[in-house]
Amino acid sequence: MTQPARLFLFVAPSSIPKSGAESRFASVPMLDLARQYAQIREEVLVAIERVCSAQHFILGAEVEALEREIAASTGASEAVGCASGTDALWLALLAVGVRPGDSVLTTTFSFFASATAIVRAGARPVLVDIEPHTLNLDPIKVEEYLRGGKFPGLRALLPVHLYGQCADMDAFERLAREFGLTLVEDAAQAIGASWRDRRAGSLGSAAAFSFYPTKNLSAYGDAGLVTTNDAEFAEHMRRLRNHGSPRRYVHDELGWNCRLDAIQAAVLRVKLPYIEKWNQQRRDRAAAYDRLLTQSGLASATIDAPVRPLAMTPHAHHVYHQYVVRAQRRDDLRQFLDDRKIGTEIYYPLPLHLQPAFAYLGYREGDMPESERAAREVLALPMFPELGEDEQQWVVESIAEFYS
Ligand SMILES: Cc1ncc(COP(=O)(O)O)c(C=O)c1O
Repeated sequence: MTQPARLFLFVAPSSIPKSGAESRFASVPMLDLARQYAQIREEVLVAIERVCSAQHFILGAEVEALEREIAASTGASEAVGCASGTDALWLALLAVGVRPGDSVLTTTFSFFASATAIVRAGARPVLVDIEPHTLNLDPIKVEEYLRGGKFPGLRALLPVHLYGQCADMDAFERLAREFGLTLVEDAAQAIGASWRDRRAGSLGSAAAFSFYPTKNLSAYGDAGLVTTNDAEFAEHMRRLRNHGSPRRYVHDELGWNCRLDAIQAAVLRVKLPYIEKWNQQRRDRAAAYDRLLTQSGLASATIDAPVRPLAMTPHAHHVYHQYVVRAQRRDDLRQFLDDRKIGTEIYYPLPLHLQPAFAYLGYREGDMPESERAAREVLALPMFPELGEDEQQWVVESIAEFYS
């Protein structure tokens, strides 16, 4: 089967440093998973062999062990593995009680699945704009919406921890309490992130993670997981992921097949002990970009700077799933970098309220000005733990040359 186009967009071949004083590179990829594989190859092959020897490929001991290990690492008491981050969102929404006829509020500036999972749960997405410095869901706009009183059937808030930085969970907890809503995290991009001293995954009633191959903690295929502190929610999700079946060939309700494969769980268990180190390396790479962009005179928070890095929120421990800047003449810059084989990506070129598939929600261009502006300006630069500072220098020099 053909791989999703998304994967090809992200994964470029290993860069080949050229010798010489100019520090030029044949390419700098957005993400180079081969460098990670080189570090953990032996461990991964042993883990896959363990599953092949056991001949137990779906759920089972590997998945249960991963669930325990991820629950422990996020501070949640329960974890339920499943087939993707999209399925994790769907399971989480159903488990917390979202039903047909309800609505769920989320950001308009996210991957499509944040909203499609709501639809799949039978509910209607309510989309709200972002705040401009982090591009996370804006709590002030959410509060305005809630105080406006136009939310019949609103059941849950679904903030997304965009690019690896937690949304303002103080504000969303307060609003959820005041308006009697359930708080669910879309933590697909945020494994290892935290808000104050609490980890993403333990900040709401349930949280969805994705282990898509480009994520900070990534499987060798599709995989996802939900964390929760509620044992009943967890049991319900275990049934839902297996056709709503509490025991063989008995189906209490309509679930789906979205079980997690043992091979994916085994690979993830190899990688999990490295995630703190890898996330710290991402943070170091982000600090290096900040420094290099500032030193080059390109970056500042002022509106007329050619390149503006996004803000770090003081209470958030950011794990830089992506390092994103706002750039003037973004599309021309991207083409210039592409000509030098420097990988970049746009997350996201079209906010959810303008997606053709959501036309039925009735939003119009101009409804969410911050997201629409962000969609025109954002550019993600190469980011992965093994990225070399010399490669980053080359990226920043190239950006400087474009604006010179
Ligand atoms: C914010 C967000 N939510 C949900 C998902 C869906 O995860 P998956 O691709 O594993 O289904 C993703 C992954 O791309 C994501 O970035």
